[in-house]
Amino acid sequence: MTRLLENIKQQYHKLGIPLDELKELEILSNENPNLFRRLSQRRLFNEPLAYLKGEVYFFGRKFNVDRRVYVPNPETEKMVRFALSELDVHSSILDVGTGSGSIAITLKKENPRIDVFGCDISPSALEVATKNALDHRVSLSFFESCYVDDLDIDEPTHIISDLPYGDERYILPSINLREFRHMPPESCFHPLGSLYAYKELIESIKNKGWKPKLFFESGKVKKDEVAEIIPQGMDWRYVLFEDNYSVTRLDFNQ
Ligand SMILES: C[S@@+](CC[C@H](N)C(=O)[O-])C[C@H]1O[C@@H](n2cnc3c(N)ncnc32)[C@H](O)[C@@H]1O
Repeated sequence: MTRLLENIKQQYHKLGIPLDELKELEILSNENPNLFRRLSQRRLFNEPLAYLKGEVYFFGRKFNVDRRVYVPNPETEKMVRFALSELDVHSSILDVGTGSGSIAITLKKENPRIDVFGCDISPSALEVATKNALDHRVSLSFFESCYVDDLDIDEPTHIISDLPYGDERYILPSINLREFRHMPPESCFHPLGSLYAYKELIESIKNKGWKPKLFFESGKVKKDEVAEIIPQGMDWRYVLFEDNYSVTRLDFNQ
């Protein structure tokens, strides 16, 4: 490494960027000092490392990510595993709020015989999801829709969803709150508050007359708070994987 690169590295390390991240940025910049400096500045302003690299790993696969999409959290792999354990060859599944498509594409790769759909309110997120599906050579359909309101597909047996469900109390361990300002606002928080997006999703599914099984990420939100958004008399289960992470499974079919 040249003395110039080493100096830049020391400057940015003193300002707070960990050495392992600087090493990644150095590789990314191909040891070009100007590029290394620019990337380090962006990282110092809390731009997610995944955006700087243009990719992130989810469930062992690489996905393209940029400012058009939320960066998938590693915790969400647990919800995908949970859903996979309940799907069979007769299942079809819709991923609501698909973002980069990481959940939908993973489900299709892990279970190629089932029909998988994805939808999102953001057309630019869907461009990224479509590119990811092409790169992973999977055939699945993405649609622009507010929850399930605008969809014209057959009723799926299952719906899976990681919508913005939290507030600052519920940030997952893998999330750096300061990185959120670089992500699409509609992917981070619901303007009306915690769990509101799922409340609206449940309403949207009911309005459609669908009776799927719904899995949604409830993260650090406690069971009694989740209970408040479940309509009276519905069958549901709060699955705690560990202290900081839960999934809720709601059955519309009753
Ligand atoms: C937390 S991000 C998760 C993205 C992806 N599921 C993942 O795990 O990386 C939430 C996603 O929900 C989408 N979203 C927000 N409100 C929505 C709505 N009303 N209908 C559909 N999608 C919505 C956002 O555009 C964003 O892509």
